[in-house]
Amino acid sequence: MKTVLSVVGARPNFMKIAPIDRALRPYARDLQHQICHTGQHYDEKMSKVFFSDLGLPAPDFHLGVGSGSHAEQTARIMVEFEKVALADRPDLVLVVGDVNSTVACSLVAAKLQIPVGHVEAGLRSWDRTMPEEINRIVTDSLADYLFVTEQSGLDNLSREGVAPEKVHFVGNVMIDSLAQHLEKAQSSEILKTLNLTPGTYVVVTLHRPSNVDSFEGLQGTVNLLNTLASHRRVIFPVHPRTLKSLEQLGLRSKFSSNITTLEPVGYIDFLALIEHADLILTDSGGIQEESTYLGVQCVTLRPNTERPITVSMGTNHLVGVNMEHALEVCLKILGGEKKQGTVPPLWDGKSAERIAAILHASLAGNGKASSS
Ligand code: UD1
Ligand code: UDP
Repeated sequence: MKTVLSVVGARPNFMKIAPIDRALRPYARDLQHQICHTGQHYDEKMSKVFFSDLGLPAPDFHLGVGSGSHAEQTARIMVEFEKVALADRPDLVLVVGDVNSTVACSLVAAKLQIPVGHVEAGLRSWDRTMPEEINRIVTDSLADYLFVTEQSGLDNLSREGVAPEKVHFVGNVMIDSLAQHLEKAQSSEILKTLNLTPGTYVVVTLHRPSNVDSFEGLQGTVNLLNTLASHRRVIFPVHPRTLKSLEQLGLRSKFSSNITTLEPVGYIDFLALIEHADLILTDSGGIQEESTYLGVQCVTLRPNTERPITVSMGTNHLVGVNMEHALEVCLKILGGEKKQGTVPPLWDGKSAERIAAILHASLAGNGKASSS
């Protein structure tokens, strides 16, 4: 019996590991799947809600590290994860995305000579002021299995000299989760609760330090939302980093009455919200991809994206952080100038199955699923 130990820590990790957990089940006779939650995110609405919404089993290990500076958080995860890895001796550590938990656990595993698999490898924003870009580069340089979501990832890894046999173009596991849960989202009550008519509102999410940590950045965004709110109802589930900043910078009470601020919402409710939105305004990584799959217009308040296929093929509009330009683009979209998108290759709901088959073939030998 071989063991795959997957790491989750922050909100976008849960919907990436859940389909992999499901896809590994047919191989359970040969491959045991365990989950370690670092505790990077810990509020019920940033963590626990996703276990029930996604049918993710309770973690086998919980590190409880919580928040801190980058060094504190990364170091705490490393210290605690090393204890787990030493005692558990998994045959592979699987990490997803680009958060501090991803890089911390990759470093620990690599130094213990435990192979590392990285899901969402090869994405690059080319912007090292983004902490996630450092996490991506370091994780990819340590990984033995690099699972790629889009062509740019293949190009970037090839340019960086990664051995081709380590690289696997599998598609997008976050889209697996989305496809698996869309039907369930039809029974969400959130539109009714918020008195929303499909196609008549804007959903906003913001949490990038560059947008929410400074007074100038956040004030500009609040002004943009207030102007948008004179055209459409705005629904804004507020990330805890952003809430803290709004409170500390005295901007919490500056929203117009047509803006509904909420606590972060669970996965199923969030899918229902974005599926029926007229427009999504965001700086999230994953939501750029989800909107592309759903064909919903997305305006991304960032100067760059590590997911360029969402712009070249999908419905994403990358507008930078000039709020006047962002408003102009939003108003054009709301006026009917919508981008026609296509779903990128291999975003077909089967990416986790591809990953599971590769891991099984490589770790347990014959590549065929055995019924458990
Ligand atoms: C992290 C990731 C980011 C990802 C985002 C997803 C890193 C470097 N950043 O950013 O890539 O896009 O998660 O949501 O890994 N907080 C709470 N409750 C929580 C979690 C956080 O109140 O459950 C507050 C704390 O004040 C904390 C702050 O949010 O200091 C930031 O949390 P942290 O995990 O450091 O970074 P995020 O901004 O959430
Ligand atoms: N999401 C959610 N509730 C929310 C906001 C986001 O369930 O209130 C989901 C969203 O559908 C996506 C993931 O969280 O699957 C994205 O997480 P986030 O934007 O925090 O992280 P990023 O992708 O930017 O790293």
